[in-house]
Amino acid sequence: MGRLAGKVAVITGIGGGMGREAARRFAAEGARVVGCDLNAEGLTETVELVRAEGGEITGFAPVDAGDAVAVAAWIDAAAAVYGGIDILYNNASIQRFGAIDEISVEDWDFAIDMELNIVFYAVRAAWKHLKTRGGVIVNIGSIAGTRGVEFMPQNAHGAAKAGVINLTQQLAVEGGPHRIRAVCISPGFIQTPATTFLVEDPPPALKATWDRIPLGRVGQPADVVNAAVFLASDDASWITGINLVVDGGGTVLG
Ligand SMILES: NC(=O)c1ccc[n+]([C@@H]2O[C@H](COP(=O)([O-])OP(=O)(O)OC[C@H]3O[C@@H](n4cnc5c(N)ncnc54)[C@H](O)[C@@H]3O)[C@@H](O)[C@H]2O)c1
Repeated sequence: MGRLAGKVAVITGIGGGMGREAARRFAAEGARVVGCDLNAEGLTETVELVRAEGGEITGFAPVDAGDAVAVAAWIDAAAAVYGGIDILYNNASIQRFGAIDEISVEDWDFAIDMELNIVFYAVRAAWKHLKTRGGVIVNIGSIAGTRGVEFMPQNAHGAAKAGVINLTQQLAVEGGPHRIRAVCISPGFIQTPATTFLVEDPPPALKATWDRIPLGRVGQPADVVNAAVFLASDDASWITGINLVVDGGGTVLG
């Protein structure tokens, strides 16, 4: 039996990258997956892939998870189809970068909307469903949420991810009495469509951080999703409020 057998998992951003990997693995572990994405083409590819692998999945697109009304409608639809939800996996985000004296207010607000508010909207919509039978919220943070870097002016991105990490702690406190766990996973550099341009032409300062990763390579989506499967499963039933760094050890060197 799969580690997530029978659980209903709603996952944002399944159209590519780590969200696609999450949809595949969660379905392979027995979850009934309900995914959404802005990108209808990518979502359809994921749905076809999961079904070809024998998994159960429903996809909704285009859904903007950064739109509180749209994301609530998607989560309510998932709960209506399956009679509730067990796992909310907040994967989707869109970044905007800029040095502090260059980033526009519009770009800052967009990044906070699409990296922090996007998590709040989904949690807010899912909470009443999770309260009825307990469940798990898996948030994707980032090592950017706890440090600055030389190779990328990540002001808004880092601030938003710091917010995701802290929100997870508060959700754990408020969720405990309702048997709702909340966990955050903070990936290091992961090779996905969002980072392909960096893999192909890495700035020297970024390359230098890769050269210092103790486990000797950059991450792959499966590295993050392996952790998510465990944390979403009943094997982690006494784990809540954590921020699990998945980075090959890249941040322990200081
Ligand atoms: N790739 C990395 O190195 C890295 C490192 C740390 C954290 N993260 C985080 O991991 C998560 C996944 O990143 P990725 O690299 O797989 O990204 P990606 O861009 O490859 O995939 C993200 C998916 O989410 C979808 N999406 C984006 N915004 C959406 C919205 N508002 N509504 C619905 N769907 C939306 C995209 O269409 C895409 O299919 C993000 O939260 C990201 O910040 C990534």
